[in-house]
Amino acid sequence: KENPNAPLYNLNNQAARLYNMLLTSTELGQKAQAYLEKRGITAEIIKAFNLGLAPEEQDFIYQNLSSKFDEAVMAKSGLFRYSNNRTFDAFSNRIMFPVTNEYGHVVAFSGRKWQENDESRGKYINTQATEIYDKSFELFHLDKAKPTISKSKEVYLMEGPMDVIAAYKAGIFNVVATMGTALTEKHVRRLKKLAKKYILLYDGDNAGQNAIYKALDLLGQKQTEIVRIPEGMDPDEYAKSYSYEALAKLMTEGRIQPLEFLMDYQRPANLNNLQSQLDFLEEMTAEIVKLPSITSQDLYIRKLVELLPDFDYQQVEQAVNLRRENN
Ligand code: CTP
Ligand code: MN
Ligand code: MN
Ligand code: MN
Ligand code: MN
Repeated sequence: KENPNAPLYNLNNQAARLYNMLLTSTELGQKAQAYLEKRGITAEIIKAFNLGLAPEEQDFIYQNLSSKFDEAVMAKSGLFRYSNNRTFDAFSNRIMFPVTNEYGHVVAFSGRKWQENDESRGKYINTQATEIYDKSFELFHLDKAKPTISKSKEVYLMEGPMDVIAAYKAGIFNVVATMGTALTEKHVRRLKKLAKKYILLYDGDNAGQNAIYKALDLLGQKQTEIVRIPEGMDPDEYAKSYSYEALAKLMTEGRIQPLEFLMDYQRPANLNNLQSQLDFLEEMTAEIVKLPSITSQDLYIRKLVELLPDFDYQQVEQAVNLRRENN
């Protein structure tokens, strides 16, 4: 029996082919490729990620596919928008990143602005939810990442497709992205079936750090590690500034434990007065007692002592012991 969603998969697949053709075989595509080249995206990457270009025409995809698909299928694909009794493409003048589901079917697109004079809204625009696309469920690159996730039992989480491509160029394939949308319970449930360890590589800005804090809660601290990207960079920019080898090294050797992250993230800006030190001590001892071994607890007691001008080792250790007894 045919999958009832087959026409939707088929339509998305054909759209992806058209977008790819426009990027690889047109004059405007040459310009878009020059933009991509500057960003480290070569013909090989365009092929591997099936990248494309939505043209400047406002209804190119519609004109090319409307004879092949039912209007009802087109209407619920998320690929078109309707205004003044006319149908337009949802994406025009954008670099197109196809989003595939676990089985490799194209289910959605993310389109990035690339021309300097483009004043349209949104650096990226994304396909709205459809019958085959739930953004709180899908993870970019999961189909390709699956074999290496299953093998290593580890998965890296990043923000967007450009970061996943940077990791790919660095030779690391067990990487998925949430596409800017927050990590959800649904994402986590899927990842738990495949991996035992989650490594967060979000951007080195406030949004990224807040996202790490939230993700730690969903994934669980024991199973999670963090790679901090320097302030103002993301994994893609890190690779561009240093090298892809440096990114690979950071991803494998630069991992830190959640508590090391939390000690920095939750540390108040001012630790000079006694009350702020006590509050922070309270918060951190609650985390330290959760650690599985006395050695790791001791390590973080020492780190904490460093941060608290008015407390010494014995005092912090005592606070931890007290907390342990009260638990
Ligand atoms: N995003 C989005 N809409 C926006 C901005 C971001 O959907 N207006 C999503 C995209 O999937 C993007 C992710 O959030 O990949 C992370 O955002 P950001 O860090 O700003 O973009 P980058 O991934 O760094 O993309 P680029 O390097 O192309 O600027
Ligand atoms: Mn970001
Ligand atoms: Mn980014
Ligand atoms: Mn970026
Ligand atoms: Mn001290």
